[in-house]
Amino acid sequence: MNIYKEKDYAAVSRRAANIISAQIIQKPDSVLGLATGSSPIGTYDQLIEWYQKGDLDFSKVSTINLDEYLGLAANDPNSYHYFMNKHLFSKVNINAEKVHLPDGTALDIETECNTYDSMIGSLGGIDLQLLGLGHNGHIGFNEPSDSYTAGTHLVHLSQNTIEANARLFSSINDVPRKAITMGIRSIMFAKRILLVVSGADKADALHKTIYGPITPQVPASILQLHPNVSIVADEAALR
Ligand code: F6R
Repeated sequence: MNIYKEKDYAAVSRRAANIISAQIIQKPDSVLGLATGSSPIGTYDQLIEWYQKGDLDFSKVSTINLDEYLGLAANDPNSYHYFMNKHLFSKVNINAEKVHLPDGTALDIETECNTYDSMIGSLGGIDLQLLGLGHNGHIGFNEPSDSYTAGTHLVHLSQNTIEANARLFSSINDVPRKAITMGIRSIMFAKRILLVVSGADKADALHKTIYGPITPQVPASILQLHPNVSIVADEAALR
């Protein structure tokens, strides 16, 4: 694991954006695995700034997001479709046909999950997977469990995750209890992984991720087995 210790969130965002932009410059048709949440917003802002300066071109890039809440349509302000449009897609020259997120309104979830895995395969897998880290060690919405789940699947969100994400909803009762998430196999098959972590509240989960036993109870700990992981974290998170 390459660990980049940065001063604060702004420096984490710049470093992560540097790694992603290098990927796009070296391979303009890169397949990027993307995350939502607070962690990558600064990274996306930096990428947008470089795009606006003319230093980055997203026209050949494909993206595959990690997850989506069950039951939320793309135009729901709390959906991850909406988040990605707001924080990245609407602000760069990405081709709308090359962006992919699970469909939270799919009627047949099993088919939706299988289709998502086939789509990842047909794109040749992920070149660079951006990840945030849950307080409980989750990546995507792969929650602590007795075993890892390989493929895209329906997940019941843990109480911890529901509480952590309630800040973005008008009430905790509005937070969906289920989501569709990419599984551990697609994440681990990414050629490169970039984990961005910020804040003292993530320090315990990050410590277990890097130094703890590899266990599905701390899903991110499996990243210890990946040959090309970069962790970009601030001083508060990397104690
Ligand atoms: C989001 C995702 C989650 C978040 C994690 C951290 O697509 O898959 O794993 O990355 O919950 O969220 P933040 O960054 O909001 O602390």
